[in-house]
Amino acid sequence: MATIREARAAGRERAARGGVSARDADLLLADALGREPVWLLAHDTDQIDDKAARAFEGSLDRRIAGEPVQYIRGRCEFYGREFLVDSRVLIPRPETELLVERLVRIAPRGARVVDVGAGSGCIAITLAAERPDLRVMSVDLSLGALAVAHANATRLGVRVSFAGSDLLSACRGPFDIVVSNPPYVAEGERDRMQREVVAWEPHLALFAGDKGMSVIVRLLAEASHLVAPRGVVALEIGYDQAWLLAELASATDWRLEIHPDLAGIPRVALLQRE
Ligand SMILES: C[S@@+](CC[C@H](N)C(=O)[O-])C[C@H]1O[C@@H](n2cnc3c(N)ncnc32)[C@H](O)[C@@H]1O
Repeated sequence: MATIREARAAGRERAARGGVSARDADLLLADALGREPVWLLAHDTDQIDDKAARAFEGSLDRRIAGEPVQYIRGRCEFYGREFLVDSRVLIPRPETELLVERLVRIAPRGARVVDVGAGSGCIAITLAAERPDLRVMSVDLSLGALAVAHANATRLGVRVSFAGSDLLSACRGPFDIVVSNPPYVAEGERDRMQREVVAWEPHLALFAGDKGMSVIVRLLAEASHLVAPRGVVALEIGYDQAWLLAELASATDWRLEIHPDLAGIPRVALLQRE
């Protein structure tokens, strides 16, 4: 039997050879031991048993084969909470926290909210947890995603109602807020994307036609019938989509506000009926 220090060093070396970070190797070792990574440092002379060593080997193999560490661990953090994730859902991204943060601040008291494209449920669940006065529902076309989102809501003790729907087709409204991190990657971007994302994350969550706008265009058209007066559509958008959205808004009666992310990239679009 090896010590934790030896297993950690060997794991980090294998990870480096496979192009995997030392941080991921540590996370997977800690998971195999059922501990937090910081525990490893304080117990580096303890022995690692065969079962944990085999579990570590197996998960490191998966990571070296390219599987995202969040899917291997089955969880990831979003807005300070832990969400279950697997290959049925997009891994929640830090930039999506900006969209949620803005709504947490501006949503009117008691607002009726629908989140379109639940995925892991990270947007709807966080809104409901941070603002228990909101009435939140969340829809997705993928039944697999809805199962994950439902499990997350139950686990986090948050009330959100979930439904299967193609965009807003199964929703009655009216809503004060329609929020979505829709699929917005252009088909032509596929070859330029991180290989890990294309190989492992659900394509239904990523791609949306030629310019990545097909879902957004359809969603805005549907939202215009279901948004209450002075209601808002809040979207996460792609790095090059602000002007496409501005064109779309100028041809309709939506007033558009764009907010950049921390890197200065236009990331959150707020549309309000004029
Ligand atoms: C980019 S992911 C966002 C997931 C989650 N809200 C997040 O921010 O991590 C987009 C989600 O939209 C769902 N979706 C794609 N097309 C849809 C449609 N026509 N109707 C409803 N949901 C759809 C996908 O299944 C996926 O879960």
